[in-house]
Amino acid sequence: MKALVLSGGKGTRLRPITHTSAKQLVPVANKPILFYGLEAIAESGIKDVGIIVGDTKNEIMSAVGDGKKFGIKVTYIPQAAPLGLAHAVKISQDFLKDDEFVMYLGDNLIRDGIKSFVDEFRKKKPNSQILLAKVPNPQQFGVAELKDGKILRLVEKPKQPKSDLALVGVYMFDKNIFEAVNSIKPSWRGELEITDAIQYLVEKKFTVIPHIINGWWKDTGKLEDMLEANRIILDTLKKENLGIVENSTIEGKVVIQKNAEIINSTIRGPVIIGENCKIINSYIGPFTSVYFNTVIENSEIEHSIILENSKVKDVRRIADSLIGQNVEILKSEKKPQAYRIMVGDSSRVEII
Ligand code: DAU
Repeated sequence: MKALVLSGGKGTRLRPITHTSAKQLVPVANKPILFYGLEAIAESGIKDVGIIVGDTKNEIMSAVGDGKKFGIKVTYIPQAAPLGLAHAVKISQDFLKDDEFVMYLGDNLIRDGIKSFVDEFRKKKPNSQILLAKVPNPQQFGVAELKDGKILRLVEKPKQPKSDLALVGVYMFDKNIFEAVNSIKPSWRGELEITDAIQYLVEKKFTVIPHIINGWWKDTGKLEDMLEANRIILDTLKKENLGIVENSTIEGKVVIQKNAEIINSTIRGPVIIGENCKIINSYIGPFTSVYFNTVIENSEIEHSIILENSKVKDVRRIADSLIGQNVEILKSEKKPQAYRIMVGDSSRVEII
């Protein structure tokens, strides 16, 4: 069995972060989202993994490499444009051949991994197995309508959803999926939808098994989802200190990574502070992840994700935020007193 991981696409909902970097590499609890998926695939016993890459190809390739560090062998499959999830399957036929495979969307996080689903698929040998989860906002997903435990219909992002069961971004297929992806037409948004390809399998009487999952699952496309995923993962970490703590109070589950320095500060977990960070005269509150080489001085921050090489200085309080790489947020004493801002396209700043 093989795996196909989708790591192309546009990432429009996480702009401006994704203007400059791949959405699948944004860290959750200081680890790129994509890595959780690759680890789950390795854990399910699959070694041969194709990764679909688009504009952010170089970044993904340098982060994942040949896959050895995950115990897998990676083949990169370039997709010229994000023409849809079913398009990604179509262009991967040379890699997948006649093998069964798991398709994993690179921005999805699934708590319990995928081993039990892969085992079930191997045992029951249906033509396809899909995972479904109850969501409060089904119109933003592919939605399944079931009857007596069987799939009646699947619709991509319906305006009036017939159920609250969303398609999770992990699918299992045998070779018959190629007939489906070669038969469907692009949707209203111009994409070849995997949801339509599975609907084709259902209509042609192939066996498609739905599996409703109970553990949490996150599609990390939006800021709120990123913060929620970060909360959930931070809560599972074990306390650890590989850095230097001076004259500071560390409360609860706090991970301090290599060479980080915490000076005259209070850290209230769950929190992770990345390698080579400096936290000086500051308060870092629950559910915050600070990626590597970032400095926080004379400031308070909570329930936020800060990426690498950034600096926050003399800022009263930041909350519920996602701060990108190489960002500086500083207090200015200059007169006239004013907000002086240089923010990228599609940014959002809330001020008090
Ligand atoms: O997360 C689950 C949802 O994923 C499902 O409920 C939907 O049925 C399914 O269509 C998909 O919806 P999204 O609109 O969230 O998909 P998105 O465009 O975010 O793409 C998912 C991943 O696949 C993402 O990591 C980018 C990558 N991708 C996407 C497209 C369209 C590619 O690699 N190539 C593509 O052509």
